[in-house]
Amino acid sequence: MKNSRPFNQTRREFLQACFTIPAIGAMVLHDGLEVIAQTQGLPPTPACGDEEDLTPPNAEGPFFKPKSPRRTSLLEPGITGSKLIVTGHVLSTDCKPITGALLDFWHADAKGVYDNVGYKLRGHQFSDEAGRYYLETIVPGLYPGRTRHIHVKVQAPHKPILTTQLYFPGEQLNNTDFLFRPELLMKIQDSNDGKTATFNFVLNVS
Ligand SMILES: [Fe+2]
Repeated sequence: MKNSRPFNQTRREFLQACFTIPAIGAMVLHDGLEVIAQTQGLPPTPACGDEEDLTPPNAEGPFFKPKSPRRTSLLEPGITGSKLIVTGHVLSTDCKPITGALLDFWHADAKGVYDNVGYKLRGHQFSDEAGRYYLETIVPGLYPGRTRHIHVKVQAPHKPILTTQLYFPGEQLNNTDFLFRPELLMKIQDSNDGKTATFNFVLNVS
């Protein structure tokens, strides 16, 4: 299968290309999730089945709190920082969308501080019928010893929990943070009022 891919394209790049949402998409409200509707439809499901692109686990860290509120936006009064929208899909290793996957996000505020008393910058949601998720938040700040990151737990229905982290490209500390993994880099672009990022989670649900 790899030999059929042009330009030494990795399977991850292929997946991201297949599931990249076109810029002409329109914002709609769908099943409680604000998602981007495609006006041209998805390309055909790619033929793939390797395990090499499974999203790897990454340390939970000391700041996870269970029972976060269900919400797709972590923005609320008192939250300051550069706006960040993260979107993507939850997929199986054969590239099928996983519906109803739990995604529980938590991260530091713009000053690098976690809310360990309440639930600021913490929230969970479920992927929609196309496996899509949408997170509205801010760019987390740095704290000593770590590069910039977002924590997340992802769980397909009735399957084990994947605990991992998402990373930001171009961060100098990515080179020295021993937890950093390039497979967990988001793709990030500047937007009118902040940044947009994409990342597809690939889970083993067999
Ligand atoms: Fe952290």
